Amino acid sequence: MKTATAEPTADPHWGDNRVLAEDAPVHDWYRFVLAFPPHLVRSYLERFDAQPGQTLLDPFCGTGTSLVAGKAHGMNAIGLDVNPIACLAARVKTSCHEINTKVLRKALKSIVGKADKQCRKLGLVDSDLPLFNQAEQAPLSDDLPHLTDEENRLLLKDSISPFPLAKLLILRAAIRKLDASPLIRDCLLLALAKTAVADASNLGFGPEVYVLKQKKTDAPVLSALENNVHQMLKDIELVRGGAGLSPAMESQTTIIQADARQMSEKLKGRQIHAVITSPPYPNEKDYTRAVRLELVLLGHLQDRKDLRALKEDFLRSNSRGIYVGDKDDKYLNGNTRVESLAQEIEARRLELGKTSGFEKMYHKVVRQFFGGMAWHLKSLKPLLAPGAHLAYVVGDQASFFLIHIHTAEILAEIAADQGYEVVGIDLWRERRATASGASLREDVLVLKYQT
Ligand SMILES: C[S@@+](CC[C@H](N)C(=O)[O-])C[C@H]1O[C@@H](n2cnc3c(N)ncnc32)[C@H](O)[C@@H]1O
Repeated sequence: MKTATAEPTADPHWGDNRVLAEDAPVHDWYRFVLAFPPHLVRSYLERFDAQPGQTLLDPFCGTGTSLVAGKAHGMNAIGLDVNPIACLAARVKTSCHEINTKVLRKALKSIVGKADKQCRKLGLVDSDLPLFNQAEQAPLSDDLPHLTDEENRLLLKDSISPFPLAKLLILRAAIRKLDASPLIRDCLLLALAKTAVADASNLGFGPEVYVLKQKKTDAPVLSALENNVHQMLKDIELVRGGAGLSPAMESQTTIIQADARQMSEKLKGRQIHAVITSPPYPNEKDYTRAVRLELVLLGHLQDRKDLRALKEDFLRSNSRGIYVGDKDDKYLNGNTRVESLAQEIEARRLELGKTSGFEKMYHKVVRQFFGGMAWHLKSLKPLLAPGAHLAYVVGDQASFFLIHIHTAEILAEIAADQGYEVVGIDLWRERRATASGASLREDVLVLKYQT
C-alpha cells in the first residue's frame, strides 16, 4: 500500500478544515459541521488536472461543497445525496448564477410582510435580540402554529422553543403560498433552514449536535431570515462580478436525491472524469440527527415511518441504522480484513460482557458499511471515463470498544479488489479519539480507474 504522508499539493491551507474567508460566499448559505472545505476540493482538482467541460461527481454531496468548487473550475457537476436538505442546499448553491435577484428581493419582502402581519395578529413580537431562559411572553395560544405530536417526537427534546418555532411555521406557510419559480422558493426554503438552526433553535454543534443549556425563549426570526437572504443577494452580486465562481454559468449541474450504492441506472449514459467526495464513516453518527429540525420544518419527515424510510437509504454507519435484511456485506466478496475486524469487535464485546442491543450491532455496522462502499464502487465503474481520478475523504475510527478502524486502508483494499488503481493515501489531518485520546487519521484515499 502506497501511503503518502506528505502534502500532495503546495496548498498553504492543507489540513485546515475551516472555510477560508474568500470561500464564504455561497458556501456559507448552509453548511454541515461535517462538511469538508472548498480548498480541499481545489487541491484535488489541480492534482487531477481536471479540465473545464469535464464532469465532476460527488456521490455523497452533502451541502454541495465539491460541486460549487467544481463549477467554479468550469466543470459540469453531478451530486447525489439521500438527504433532501442536502439536495436542496446543493441545488440552490450550484444555481447561484440563475437566481433573479430582483425577483428574490421582491419575494422576500412579500413573505416577510405577510408573516409580520400574521405574527402581530397572534401577539408574536419579532424582538431585536434573542431572549434566553425567560418566562413565555404570553400564554401559549391554541392558535399559535405548532408541530404535530408525531413531528415533535422526531426532534431532539427542546430543540426549539414555541415562539421561534411559530414564527418559522408562519414563514414556511408564506413561502408555500408564494407564486414563484421553484428556484426562488428553494432559495427562501434554504434560508429558512439556516435561520431555523443558526438563529432560532437551541441547538449547538461540537461536532455532535446537542441542545444548549440556555434556551432561546424567543428570537428575531423574521429579521434573521431577511439577513440570511440579504447575504445571499450580496454573494450573488459578488460572484457575478467575477469573484470565484464566474465560469459556472456555462457548466451543467444535476442534483439527484438518490442512493450512491445504486446509481449506475440513475446516471446511465453520463461520463465522469473526477470524483471528490466524503462518505459517512462507521462512527456511530446518525446522519439524520444533526438535520432533524430542518427535515421536520421543511415537511420531509412527518412521523417515525418517514424517518425509518429515510434512514434505510443511508449507508450503514451506526448501530441505530442497521436493519433485518441488510445484505450489503455480500459485495465484500469475502474480504478477510473486514471479516476479521468484525470478528475482533464481536469478540471484544463478549469479553467485556456488553449486552445492549446497540453494542450487539457494532460488528454488523462494520460489515454493512464496508459492504455498502464496495457496492457503491461497483455501481460507479460503468460511469467512469478512462483514467478517471477519485478522492475519498474518510476518517479512522475507534467508536466500537476502542478497536481502531483504519478506514482509508480498508477502503483502498476494497477498491483494489474491484480493479481500481490505488494511487495513495494522503493524510489530511489528525484528531484525538474522545474516549481513548488515541490519534485518528483523516485521510484522502486517491484512486484511478482505467476501463
Ligand atoms: C460527510 S457528509 C458529506 C459532506 C459534504 N462533503 C459537504 O461538504 O457538505 C456525508 C453525506 O453522505 C450522505 N449519504 C449517506 N448515505 C448515503 C447514500 N447511501 N447515498 C448518497 N448519500 C448518502 C449523507 O446524507 C451526508 O450528506
